[in-house]
Amino acid sequence: MTTLNEDNPLDVVILAAGQGTRMKSDLAKVLHEVLERPMIEWVLRAIEPLNPRKIIVVVGHQRDSVRARCLDVAAKLELGSRIEFALQEEQLGTGHALQCALKGAQPINNTLVLCGDTPCIHEDSLNRLVQAHFSTEATASLFTTEVDHPFGYGRIVRQEGNVYQIVEEKDADDEQRKIQEVNPGVYIFSSGILETRLSALENKNQQGEFYITDLIFDAATNGKVHSSSLSCEEMLGVNSQVQRSEAEDILRKRIITQWMHEGVAISMPNSVWIGPGVAFEGNAEVAPFTHLSGECHIGQNARIGAHSSLRDTTVAEGAIVEAMTWTEHACIGKGARVGPYARLREGSHLEEGSKVGNFVEMKKTTLGVGSKASHLSYLGDTTIGRNANIGAGTITCNYDGFNKHKTSIADGVFIGSNSTLVAPITIDADAFVAAGSTVVKDIPRDALAFGRASQSTKKGYAARLRKRLRKG
Ligand code: UD1
Ligand code: CA
Repeated sequence: MTTLNEDNPLDVVILAAGQGTRMKSDLAKVLHEVLERPMIEWVLRAIEPLNPRKIIVVVGHQRDSVRARCLDVAAKLELGSRIEFALQEEQLGTGHALQCALKGAQPINNTLVLCGDTPCIHEDSLNRLVQAHFSTEATASLFTTEVDHPFGYGRIVRQEGNVYQIVEEKDADDEQRKIQEVNPGVYIFSSGILETRLSALENKNQQGEFYITDLIFDAATNGKVHSSSLSCEEMLGVNSQVQRSEAEDILRKRIITQWMHEGVAISMPNSVWIGPGVAFEGNAEVAPFTHLSGECHIGQNARIGAHSSLRDTTVAEGAIVEAMTWTEHACIGKGARVGPYARLREGSHLEEGSKVGNFVEMKKTTLGVGSKASHLSYLGDTTIGRNANIGAGTITCNYDGFNKHKTSIADGVFIGSNSTLVAPITIDADAFVAAGSTVVKDIPRDALAFGRASQSTKKGYAARLRKRLRKG
């Protein structure tokens, strides 16, 4: 039995020169995003585990943007040194695309060919085909799929049970058009057939194209064809926005199912978006209509409330994100609580056991251990120590019309409701700012600060502060 190894390397060709007219978009088809990744990235990720010797992407339409994006992805996947591009100036058919890919290639290896617009193809299926190709010593191997509506696909014509030929819709006769077994467009060709037959392809067909599928007929006639079946879901090729969303749904469900198997409790999974960069550590709970995207890390026993949207956010163990919360580049510490209706912008850091309540907006702000900002606040460019209380309606005025300035609020500070803190400003430990104050000067440790609006309540505050200090 022959297997994939050093002496038997595998090359991969990805066909991506087509225009994708039906996407009705200026963006190259394979660059359209499906569940947060360009289609071609899904394909590159599916072939990466096969450890191909090289990957040749056939580009044509919008070659520069396709090339650039592929290089980005390849670098991320550490495939950088193995990716190459072949230009197909004119799209004369899939066979011609393969000719362009292998022009001048030395040596020619067994080659897996697939399309850049099939994002749902799974690495396990590809691996299965590769193993079967080598173990059966096939001249060519391919997937086939039974579909309800075969229109538009190449039909699989069998003889004595074996794949004999693929006939395109436009070339098929009435009998052949009834065949429901179709060609998903994934093949492995042995080096032999590529060396001897690829250049001999002809374009004598209804479309005047060079068909890659003619190599299958050749292999069936002169060698051996192996075929395996592929699910309808995995073979889905994206040609329109409708199919793009279908592919997205397939991938989304695949990811959600995988997390549920890992013990994550996801309610109404059909309403939930979990991107491919999200990771859970254990038994978290995810409520309906939540949207977790980018690189999110969700800790043990964390709870994500309904309709919340988290991007690039870490939620530590036991933290609770209540409904309708919106976060981006934020970090929610162990046992912390956020929302409902909170907005944590980039650089929001909630330390252990802290609390952010409704209608609080934070940006580049750290809320220390056990501190609270429970209602209606804007906290920007601010550092808040431990066990501080930020009263309802507190606003940090971080912007003077030209520059952003910082606010520093030390441990144990109490900021009364509706206070306005004009940055740059420091409020030292255990200071007490009375409700309604506009604070423009630094406040020393243990001091009692009053804004104009709160002068009349000075006596009451003084008594409360004394009590607080006594309590220590
Ligand atoms: C091809 C198959 C058909 C199969 C179908 C699956 C042939 C002759 N037919 O159909 O049996 O059922 O795929 O989707 O191969 N491309 C190029 N250069 C070209 C032509 C195509 O790079 O000159 C790329 C496209 O960008 C696309 C892929 O090849 O990624 C498939 O092309 P498409 O035109 O969609 O497929 P068909 O030729 O119609
Ligand atoms: Ca075509």
